[in-house]
Amino acid sequence: MNIIFLGPPGAGKGTQAKILEDTYGMVQLSTGDMLRAEVAAGSDLGRKAKAVMEAGGLVSDDLVIGIISGRIDQDDCKTGFMLDGFPRTVPQAEALDRMLAQKGYALDHVVELQVDDEALVRRITGRFTCGDCGEGYHDEFKKPAKEGVCDKCGGSNFKRRADDNEETVRSRLAAYHAQTAPIVGHYGRQGLVRTVDGNVAIDRVTGQMTEILG
Ligand code: AP5
Ligand code: MG
Repeated sequence: MNIIFLGPPGAGKGTQAKILEDTYGMVQLSTGDMLRAEVAAGSDLGRKAKAVMEAGGLVSDDLVIGIISGRIDQDDCKTGFMLDGFPRTVPQAEALDRMLAQKGYALDHVVELQVDDEALVRRITGRFTCGDCGEGYHDEFKKPAKEGVCDKCGGSNFKRRADDNEETVRSRLAAYHAQTAPIVGHYGRQGLVRTVDGNVAIDRVTGQMTEILG
């Protein structure tokens, strides 16, 4: 099964993708994670993306289309993938349609996670992750069982994203509403959009997802 997670910053795309990876055998393809890895590695691509990401804007379509095309060619995608944070503009959606047709893949669902803007700011500003295994946490909504220790790997090297501050979140939300929301119509016309109420607790969102995915 191949799906797209669509939703504003902090909607829970990454959280749900990590939960569903094991159950459905689909790999999470997060363009945000891929770009952050390029920034951390100091590559050419990372240097081009860094300032745009820190300002809460969108990296150019050509760069992200190139990254995702190479990633989908890898073997682990054959058992299914969840696109998290891509596509984010109508040209990216059109490029993805062409890319999938060419590679012999089809989309099963486009899951749109709907969350109110004010809740999103609170989620983003409280987010942190384990720097060793990538497990995601939140100051209020998902604390580690033992303070300072990752539930999953036992590490204690937590980190916060450079773009997770209130000012940048507002820019990211504006970019979502202006440039990304129109792709709901693009996939709506293909009959692929499934809407999920993302305002509820993490496990209740997962429940809605599993109803859709079967
Ligand atoms: P990206 O990394 O994709 O960030 P984003 O879209 O802003 O989304 P987030 O990762 O912030 O949110 P999420 O939905 O994954 O939420 P999460 O599950 O972590 O992109 C970053 C940047 O890279 C972009 O701004 C852009 O510059 C660039 N970029 C990336 N892709 C691009 C593309 N295709 N084109 C151009 N540029 C691109 O949850 C958030 C927090 O809330 C967590 O702490 C979690 O524990 C908590 N939480 C989750 N669900 C719930 C719940 N139901 N209840 C309570 N708390 C919850
Ligand atoms: Mg994410």
